[in-house]
Amino acid sequence: MSCTIVVGAQWGDEGKGKIIDILASDADVIVRYQGGNNAGHTVVVGEEVFILHLVPSGILHKGKTCIIGNGVVIDPAALLAEIEMLRKKGVEVDGNLLISEAAHVIFPYHKVIDKRRGAEIGTTGRGIGPCYVDKMARCGIRMVDLVNEDSLKRKLKANLEGSREFDFEKIYREYLDYGKRIKIYLTNVPVFLNNAISKNKRILFEGAQGTLLDIDHGTYPYVTSSSATAGGALSGTGVGPTRIDKVIGVVKAYTTRVGEGPFPTQFKDDLMEKIRHKGKEFGATTGRPRRCGWFDAIITRHAVIVNGLDEIAVTKLDVLDEMEKIKICTGYKYKGKQYKDFPADIDVLTGCEPVYEEHNGWMRDTTSVTSYENLPKNAKAYLGRLSKLLDVKIGMVSVGSKRCQAFRA
Ligand code: GDP
Ligand code: IMO
Ligand code: MG
Repeated sequence: MSCTIVVGAQWGDEGKGKIIDILASDADVIVRYQGGNNAGHTVVVGEEVFILHLVPSGILHKGKTCIIGNGVVIDPAALLAEIEMLRKKGVEVDGNLLISEAAHVIFPYHKVIDKRRGAEIGTTGRGIGPCYVDKMARCGIRMVDLVNEDSLKRKLKANLEGSREFDFEKIYREYLDYGKRIKIYLTNVPVFLNNAISKNKRILFEGAQGTLLDIDHGTYPYVTSSSATAGGALSGTGVGPTRIDKVIGVVKAYTTRVGEGPFPTQFKDDLMEKIRHKGKEFGATTGRPRRCGWFDAIITRHAVIVNGLDEIAVTKLDVLDEMEKIKICTGYKYKGKQYKDFPADIDVLTGCEPVYEEHNGWMRDTTSVTSYENLPKNAKAYLGRLSKLLDVKIGMVSVGSKRCQAFRA
């Protein structure tokens, strides 16, 4: 593993934090490349539960360099609060964290706009979308501007021109102060990463959200505003495609989604409550209950394709332990037509009837299984079927939230 990208292969919350934490023990550098504090990556270390929103999940391993790349949008107050939380829990941040000078900054007006306009999408309200809008409209303010008084003044003034809602002076002072506190972390990330690669350092790219939330490849417009797929790891850090050795997709053994938007395999019966309860499916960022459903091979095969996945890590297999029958969606039916490939048309995704195949469950506790061989026969058959349908190999299986509850497949 020299340069490995880890991406979510569904609608986020696949357990990327846990997989990154495991892989991080063999990495030197862990880098976030997109999204912002809309992400919530859970890592369980012993009895302690960490939820990371901006700082890469590798920070919990001593001595790893953790980087926030240019593709990430940063709310400085959220960043400083997270650093403080980590310090209080005894995690060493200073000296281990670097932040791109070119990352865009979230301002109070982004959050206000997001809360006003994001309801239809069910956004996290963190200001993510409006901040990326400013980036694309070329009026964004970047980390480097926070340490340049003149530049911050000029750009913020232009953005707030004519606004009665926001007090320029107050925001300017507040963000200058953030700049002073964050300055020690700022660096030229492309130079740092490319030096590290030339010294054969092992780099792990930590995706946030998931493929179906990607601005280009997701269930548009019910997506986030960044490139959550593997391609985003390149533009979001300044590392070229020739440097990447491996792409791993994180896949839940079933499917969940938070917020609005189509979800063909969503449970319609009491299975929703059962799986939500067993899988503790509540948002790590907003606490919202996650929508749950059967495994959808159509969306996940799409993720295999658009990310060029070399392998997948299947998480939360244990959540299906008590299911007598388990379904996998292998196609969609819509207006007399069968779909085997992911359709771009939101009407098809919203109105389609999923085609299922049914498998026998294993009805056995898997949480203490420590090797693939020792999984129940039907669990192996289920995983084998997923691998065949997705045409990708399974590299890792996770059967609980703890570090020890995962093994190579
Ligand atoms: P992320 O956003 O992809 O990092 O995922 P989240 O942290 O938002 O959600 C995944 C949740 O599942 C967290 O609460 C994890 O602790 C938990 N988790 C991860 N892997 C497993 C697993 O294999 N089994 C169970 N039961 N929980 C898991
Ligand atoms: P992690 O990294 C799951 C969803 C929101 C909403 C949509 C757009 O923990 O997997 P946004 O605030 O990004 O503009 O909201 O995207 N969403 C996530 N869902 N996991 C996430 O991150 C998410 N980040 C955003 O619920 O539907
Ligand atoms: Mg999450």
